[in-house]
Amino acid sequence: MEVEIKVRRFNGEKSYWQKYRVPVLSGMTVLDALLYIKENIDATLSFRYSCRMGVCGSCAVKINNKPRLACETQILQLKDVQIEPINNFRVIKDLITDFDDFFAKHRIVKPYLIRKNDSYEKPVEMIQTPKQLKKYYRYSLCIKCGACNSVCPVSSTRDDYLGPAIMTTVYRFMTDNRDEGKDERFKIVSSERGVWRCHFASECSEVCPKNVEPAKAVQKLRIKSIIYEIKKFFK
Ligand code: FES
Repeated sequence: MEVEIKVRRFNGEKSYWQKYRVPVLSGMTVLDALLYIKENIDATLSFRYSCRMGVCGSCAVKINNKPRLACETQILQLKDVQIEPINNFRVIKDLITDFDDFFAKHRIVKPYLIRKNDSYEKPVEMIQTPKQLKKYYRYSLCIKCGACNSVCPVSSTRDDYLGPAIMTTVYRFMTDNRDEGKDERFKIVSSERGVWRCHFASECSEVCPKNVEPAKAVQKLRIKSIIYEIKKFFK
């Protein structure tokens, strides 16, 4: 059976729709269809992918108006197939968007465990109980696909807003009992570009392909920020 696929293209100057007819088989994903087009119909079509198994997050595109992972979306489960680049990211070419700012914001919040006195020469074993792990495990499943940021109404209007993915990363480290970087991170997420900008639209949690629930992470981070400020005030 053949399916018509409509792809939003951008050549650096103008944006336009292009239609392709692709033979599909059971089990075929949207990414498989894009690869078929590239190999057999139009080698100029550009898109990004890597793992092909929902791990790297690089294949996020808008499929029928919803951000999804192309490698995890079964083509036969869709009625029509319309593929576009995700919103709130600058389009470089066709379905490829610019993630430089997204990862620059990740670097600002230091997305790694901060330990004050550990050294590589004398590593310390940091044992965690299953209960301690459970506190942040869900939030550690984020694959940085950008789907949540692409539907965030605040991210669409403010370039400096950190956005749901970055604040989820912050929450993940804030709830890790091994981390000692809370002071540094609170300063960033309590600022004008952090948690207080969120309008709680919750679209981010709706579209997350890994069910990470960024909206919940941001709200929990707000509570933590309030407690942190109160404690600081009474110190
Ligand atoms: Fe890695 Fe889709 S190619 S998540």
